[in-house]
Amino acid sequence: GKYRVVSTKPMPGTRWIRLLSDQDCRVEICTDKKTILSVEDILALIGDKCDGVIGQLTEDWGEVLFSALRRAGGTAFSNMAVGYNNVDVDAATKCGVAVGNTPGVLTETTAELAASLSLAAARRIVEADEFMRAGLYDGWLPHLFVGNLLKGQTVGVIGAGRIGSAYARMMIEGFKMNLIYYDLYQATRLEKFVTAYGQFLKANGEQPVSWKRAATMEDVLREADVISLHPILDKTTYHLINKESLSIMKKDAILVNCSRGPVIDEAALVEHLKVNPMFRVGLDVFEDEPYMKPGLAELKNAIVVPHIASASKWTREGMATLAALNVLGKIKGYPVSTDPNQVEPFLDEKSSPPA
Ligand code: GLV
Ligand code: GLV
Repeated sequence: GKYRVVSTKPMPGTRWIRLLSDQDCRVEICTDKKTILSVEDILALIGDKCDGVIGQLTEDWGEVLFSALRRAGGTAFSNMAVGYNNVDVDAATKCGVAVGNTPGVLTETTAELAASLSLAAARRIVEADEFMRAGLYDGWLPHLFVGNLLKGQTVGVIGAGRIGSAYARMMIEGFKMNLIYYDLYQATRLEKFVTAYGQFLKANGEQPVSWKRAATMEDVLREADVISLHPILDKTTYHLINKESLSIMKKDAILVNCSRGPVIDEAALVEHLKVNPMFRVGLDVFEDEPYMKPGLAELKNAIVVPHIASASKWTREGMATLAALNVLGKIKGYPVSTDPNQVEPFLDEKSSPPA
């Protein structure tokens, strides 16, 4: 191979390796058993010649790594993730390295996990499973593990992009929930879907569903029964959910997070869960992964899973393939405009929704 492409982790499937090998690339896969590679580990992998790298969301891709990659002749980096808060895109741009991510293929898989956590929290699946396994079930009782009915309740979505919209559709169509959402951008297709589905229900003599685009995030927090977080993580969304925002939510609300841990002030959440036993959460991500804030693991009203939202076989193979294509496209000099996965600059306070 004329080009050297490094993957910092073995990735699912073989298609991504074939794609690169068929196009003059020698693929090197790091076999270090350590789960999280340090900047030093990655510098050693880059070495003196490296054309592109496929990296992971656990790695800190900043100035140091991008300038090393550029010195080694590299021009391409792809995260194997849709989120790229671990990547300093400005530093990459300054160094002349293009950055890719892997949206699309994980939308439904991630939304399905958010829906799973919503249902598991509403029906107290994990607590009930533990109870059963502990041999505590000694007969049916009217009060045993009573949870929340979703039908007719309101689902709140914070960040109605691809994943948030897919999740909303599942909850609306599957459980006939009403929608309230907050996003800088109008989710036009989602609104149209809810309107059409509401008309369908009405025509069939059923209670229709409705949608509302909230003017503020607080409106969603106050009104929704189940709230799922789908923003990107940047300085505008850090600790979006904190002591104050938790205090305005319903006492028996369900909160789900499959975005990024630091979107929630996790210590404040632990305190909130302790004093509000009817409030339940489903968490896929944590503020200081792989750790949980003290107390969280002991709480019965929290369901916790280890950042597995995109973990279906089809999706993970697709993410690996997209990451490989991102790197290959740049190395081969395809025009950037044909690369749908080159990341956009982060949204910040200054960006405003298009008219
Ligand atoms: C996973 O968390 C991703 O951003 O793809
Ligand atoms: C991420 O893919 C999103 O737009 O929700």
